[in-house]
Amino acid sequence: MRDDTRRTPQFVKAIRQRFAGKEGKLTMLDIGTGPFALFALVAARAGAKKVYAIEANPDAAARARANVAKATDIEPGTIEVIEGFTSALKLPEKVDVCCAEIIGVIASEENCINTIRDAQQRFLKDPSNPESYIPVSVQTYAAPVSYALHPVLAPPRFERLGGQPLRVNCRDRTVQLLSDPQLVEDIKFSDPKLPAAGRWSATPPVEFVVSSDRVYANEKAYYTALLKEEMKDDEARKVARETAESFSGMAFWPRLVLDTKGELIVESRGPLGEHQKSHWQTLVSLMNPTPVPVSAGSVIKVEPQTDLGQDILQPVKYTLQAEIRPVSA
Ligand SMILES: C[S@@+](CC[C@H](N)C(=O)[O-])C[C@H]1O[C@@H](n2cnc3c(N)ncnc32)[C@H](O)[C@@H]1O
Repeated sequence: MRDDTRRTPQFVKAIRQRFAGKEGKLTMLDIGTGPFALFALVAARAGAKKVYAIEANPDAAARARANVAKATDIEPGTIEVIEGFTSALKLPEKVDVCCAEIIGVIASEENCINTIRDAQQRFLKDPSNPESYIPVSVQTYAAPVSYALHPVLAPPRFERLGGQPLRVNCRDRTVQLLSDPQLVEDIKFSDPKLPAAGRWSATPPVEFVVSSDRVYANEKAYYTALLKEEMKDDEARKVARETAESFSGMAFWPRLVLDTKGELIVESRGPLGEHQKSHWQTLVSLMNPTPVPVSAGSVIKVEPQTDLGQDILQPVKYTLQAEIRPVSA
């Protein structure tokens, strides 16, 4: 994660930008500072007056404390590492900036909504100002996919998944998008109306149209991969076509907007869902025991629902319903 070159340098820029010209004046809360106290150290070096670096994981908190102690270029006491969940802590003062890299593959899955709502109420001087947050907003993109390995997970293996999604590398080409991605979660950290605990629809139902260009390109990609696996040409053509013209489920991945101008963006996949290197995975929720045939022009209507736990310690739960309208309907 620390070495994710699409993520970490953008955070470093956003933090430096936020403190530029205000050296010695601003305080920061780093929620989930991690073992390296990475962003806390960046903020201190960029001129933060004080950084409260909070970490729930005891081992990570101990390592963060040791790493801060090693940073002899920083005035002692500038960074205070505190072990615990933010929801269980009090700070001696309100802060100017809240940095929180607690973003899951579905942006809200690590409970950032409950965490930030609590931070707004108890920790921020100016909670409804977007400048108070890094990131400013976090998003989840989704698209229907074909998945070349889905047949391997046919029953009885499918039942063993128990409704749990798969997590695949963002570069995994066995997963191919059937449509352009769409935004299904857009969580603005300064929003005074962040949803409370309980059921929440981040978006009205979303419709995806299966793209002929994508199906064609995916078929070629699957065919080339199957030939490399030494499948016979005829069979490779057949399997590639069947796979490309099938719907396995929905894929989700996060995107982070770090600054108010929207110039510092962290993308785990490309803007059109392209495969690329990222420490985040792509979540794939299989929506049928076996792949469902679709063709260019089929419409896949998806209704996602989120159930936010009562507090930040409860897992966030998601349910998904999909309906396919074939081209002729
Ligand atoms: C994704 S890691 C980020 C680590 C580091 N900030 C970085 O970006 O490299 C998230 C960390 O946040 C911690 N965490 C998540 N929610 C938290 C909360 N509400 N209070 C304290 N720590 C939290 C987790 O234990 C985890 O170590």
